[in-house]
Amino acid sequence: MSDISAFDEQAILVHVNFSQHHNSEDLSELRLLVSSAGVNAVQEVTTSRSAPDAKFFVGSGKAQEIADLVANTGATLVIFNHALSPAQTRNVERICLARVIDRTTLILDIFAQRARTFEGKLQVELAQLQHLASRLVRGWDSLDRQKGGIGLRGPGETQLETDRRLLRERVKALQGRLAKLEKQRQQGRRARQRAEVPVVSVVGYTNAGKSTLFNRITRADVYAADQLFATLDPTLRKLPLKGVGEIILADTVGFIRHLPHNLVAAFKSTLQETRDADLQLHVVDLADVRRDDNMQQVSAVLEEIDANHILQLVVYNKIDLLGQPARIEYNEFNQPLAVYLSAHSGEGVELLLQAIAQLLSERYIDIVVSLPPQQGIWRARFHQQHCIMQEQFDDDGYCQLTLRLSESLWQRCLKQSNGVLENCVVSAPVI
Ligand code: GTP
Repeated sequence: MSDISAFDEQAILVHVNFSQHHNSEDLSELRLLVSSAGVNAVQEVTTSRSAPDAKFFVGSGKAQEIADLVANTGATLVIFNHALSPAQTRNVERICLARVIDRTTLILDIFAQRARTFEGKLQVELAQLQHLASRLVRGWDSLDRQKGGIGLRGPGETQLETDRRLLRERVKALQGRLAKLEKQRQQGRRARQRAEVPVVSVVGYTNAGKSTLFNRITRADVYAADQLFATLDPTLRKLPLKGVGEIILADTVGFIRHLPHNLVAAFKSTLQETRDADLQLHVVDLADVRRDDNMQQVSAVLEEIDANHILQLVVYNKIDLLGQPARIEYNEFNQPLAVYLSAHSGEGVELLLQAIAQLLSERYIDIVVSLPPQQGIWRARFHQQHCIMQEQFDDDGYCQLTLRLSESLWQRCLKQSNGVLENCVVSAPVI
């Protein structure tokens, strides 16, 4: 597949604002993505529109401006911070005489460069082929230019048919190999479950500091760099934890906004460790101005891969940049909610281990309660504790909640509610 970093290319970046307010952070993220891909951004073009232009995505005047910039700077690449249709890509390429790529292709390329394990590489290739296939339906210029047809064509096939057939065959082969690997992975997971080793997975927005934290905790040498997506494959490490015994720590791929859907799907199996984890550490870059939005984006991906019901501890990282002290934040029931630390300096990492040990040593139970309308306060409290797995309202305003919470937390809630909660229980394990 194409590797845009191979030639240390010069690129023009294009960003279109579709809303009233100027979204400069979107552009700074594109800059980071571009430098992560090893590409040199020589110029940026921004413009505002109410909707994309059908022909060039930007207006024809802007397209000409980009073409002039390409000619003046000698850039060989134009990168759009958006998803372009194959026709729009072709039209801009024709007028600019430079290669045009969209955000998805850029992200796929970074993934391709960073994938380290065999499985990760296969997943990236599959996602790339699927992206290519979606574009082949409408146009086939790009693939045609990438490969020679001699010796590859079957009898009586047009080039487009050959391309489609080759793609289909490769996709099928990749899917087969990935399915085999997934089976092996499942066996490993089952063995771990049998051994009852708790799994703690590290999730977070890209560049939050997951790998740095992972290294700090395990002292392993996982690649950490000021580039996006430095980690692509979950890396598992076993380590002893005071008061708990052995645990497995799993590092995962960094999440990012507007992640192409097929990429999320492609990485579902590697993110499986996250779905099956006993505890998630959600690492957040405390110093990032988009902190809250990034957290929401991570939650959205977790929801998409069905990993949003796992017990979560927020790790506010990079306190050194803000001069904040390391600390644990507890809820009213004395359960750790968040830890403030610096993975870089190591300050607060001991506190994190302590918080993990406390959370893992608790026993978790599933309880279903049906709350009458006047008990909305308990619904709000359970939300605050992140222990609601499912909720449903009936016509009378009763709210049925499926809760997963620690036994001790449940006991404390029962005590505080003075018998109210006890009367609302639909099902609970015998404690
Ligand atoms: P992806 O693999 O892209 O998801 O990134 P990541 O979340 O694993 O981040 P990584 O550990 O690679 O760190 C990203 C950058 O933040 C690196 O330049 C780190 O050196 C830096 N960093 C990580 N932790 C801290 C910290 O506590 N303080 C400061 N100042 N920088 C940190």
